Amino acid sequence: MLKYFIYLLALLIIICGAVGAFHLYRVGQKNKAEMAQFTDQVQYQNNLGKVLVVYYSLSGQTRKIAEFIAAQTKADIYEITVTEPYTSPSVYAKSKKELDSKQYPQLAAELPDLSAYDVIFVGGPVWWYTMATPLFSFLEKADFAGKKVVPFSTQGSNYGKFFTDFTAMAQNADIQKSENFNNLKPEYDDMVHNKINTWLNNLAETVTTDE
Ligand SMILES: Cc1cc2nc3c(=O)[nH]c(=O)nc-3n(C[C@H](O)[C@H](O)[C@H](O)COP(=O)(O)O)c2cc1C
Repeated sequence: MLKYFIYLLALLIIICGAVGAFHLYRVGQKNKAEMAQFTDQVQYQNNLGKVLVVYYSLSGQTRKIAEFIAAQTKADIYEITVTEPYTSPSVYAKSKKELDSKQYPQLAAELPDLSAYDVIFVGGPVWWYTMATPLFSFLEKADFAGKKVVPFSTQGSNYGKFFTDFTAMAQNADIQKSENFNNLKPEYDDMVHNKINTWLNNLAETVTTDE
């Protein structure tokens, strides 16, 4: 009996492993195809006005994107922090509970003065097919009246309802074209930079400042 149980368990592990490996292969192929569109170098021409980049990042992926946007647009940058920082792997269970109960974490710092900016980028990781909980905490407090707001995400492969939930939560925001970034190996960095600059340049055509 025990023998059959062990066989069954082994079979299940093999099936799960195969499904996981196939999923990773498919995502890898999709990423490769997307990045192939961004091999030509794209320069950013800054005309977005006074920019703020707000981000939350647990493991550094969003930080990398946020810092590049800020460097290109000569923006100020603001990192969202929480009083009880998440750690892995408990972040999975903790954040799921908080999302289900809509009890988001306490922010560790005051919000920046949003009134000083024309355009505000807000980005973070996808958690459980929506925004990471610190973004919910930030959006509960932020009032974007009169501001153009540009959301962006980073994720493994599926951003789910990130942007729908962002738009529903961002108070008084004039939401601009968003962008999302799958986690990629450093060998794709140049192409990711071209993708960001393409997005920023396209934004520049629709975002006009008062100056
Ligand atoms: C709690 C948790 C939930 C996640 N859920 C998703 C998900 O639903 N979809 C997805 O594609 N990636 C998911 N990820 C992967 C992250 O979105 C991805 O690694 C992200 O780029 C991490 O950003 P950061 O390094 O800025 O924290 C999840 C990661 C964590 C920690």
